[in-house]
Amino acid sequence: EKIVVGVDIGGTAIKVGICSIDGELLHTFEGPTEVEKGSDTICSNIAQYARDIVEQSPFSWEQVEGVGIGIAGFLDIPNGIVKFSPNLPLQNVSLKAYLEEKLEKKVLVNNDANVAALGEAWAGAGKGVEHCVCYTLGTGVGGGVIIGGRIVEGFNGMAGELGHMSIVPDLEAIQCGCGKMGCLESVSSATGIIKMAKDAVERGDRTSLSFVENIMAKDVIDAAKAGDEVAIRIVNRAAFYLGKSMALMAVVLNPQRFIIGGGVSKAGEFLFEQIREVFHKFTPESAQEGVEIVPAVLGNNAGVVGAAGLIIRS
Ligand code: BGC
Ligand code: NA
Ligand code: ZN
Repeated sequence: EKIVVGVDIGGTAIKVGICSIDGELLHTFEGPTEVEKGSDTICSNIAQYARDIVEQSPFSWEQVEGVGIGIAGFLDIPNGIVKFSPNLPLQNVSLKAYLEEKLEKKVLVNNDANVAALGEAWAGAGKGVEHCVCYTLGTGVGGGVIIGGRIVEGFNGMAGELGHMSIVPDLEAIQCGCGKMGCLESVSSATGIIKMAKDAVERGDRTSLSFVENIMAKDVIDAAKAGDEVAIRIVNRAAFYLGKSMALMAVVLNPQRFIIGGGVSKAGEFLFEQIREVFHKFTPESAQEGVEIVPAVLGNNAGVVGAAGLIIRS
């Protein structure tokens, strides 16, 4: 019996999963990324956790067909090189070569949100749907475009970097971690929501939000749900630009389904209703027909399942 290993590298944790070749998640394991220790430690942690999970499972290393990796950042996908990551301390790291040597298995590296999209398309909210566009709303805004059941990578591996779609008008634009102005990520990520809340508090806006050092996006969303005007404006803004970006994607790619995951998406219908309203307002009727905007269903597991899926589906 063959198995595949999927690895999802996040800013705080590296999640590893063992999947059957049909996409069933059999085991998971999580260890610290240790970003503060720098790129060498991050890489050796990845190799270590992949070995560990198999060792602790009933399977043997011989049964491993390959190891798929999802990592946040701009990648040279064919060569598995992390060129730059807005939210991780990795620059020009040859992850694929390093891991193939350490693990002696086929290794495929792809973007974290691309693999989450593949996971949802394979075994989640996009099951049976050939064309879908996924967003992950967390520290950053990730994107994954699946067309004809496959990840769209583009010429340079930059396809699907939806978080860096420059969409906020000049006068309101703020700088993003990628260095450019007006990215979707700057308003629709957890980080963006927190920043807007802190700015509002510092400006002295009348709000129930108070300046706590570790205010979370969830606090802002909860305040909005409870009727706080400032928080409502912030969540509206996050939803507005998401909805608008979907209107753009709808006429470029005509996906059947938009799938939204990540921590911020836990705001639920409160957020989804606003996004749908904006999408409907700005998208031509024919590009809306039959198109759905739905929450992701695999939650935190989308990344590991999709990373494993790289080995099976490409
Ligand atoms: C990065 C993407 C990543 C996303 C979510 C963005 O800042 O550019 O590569 O998919 O964050 O982690
Ligand atoms: Na992506
Ligand atoms: Zn950006």
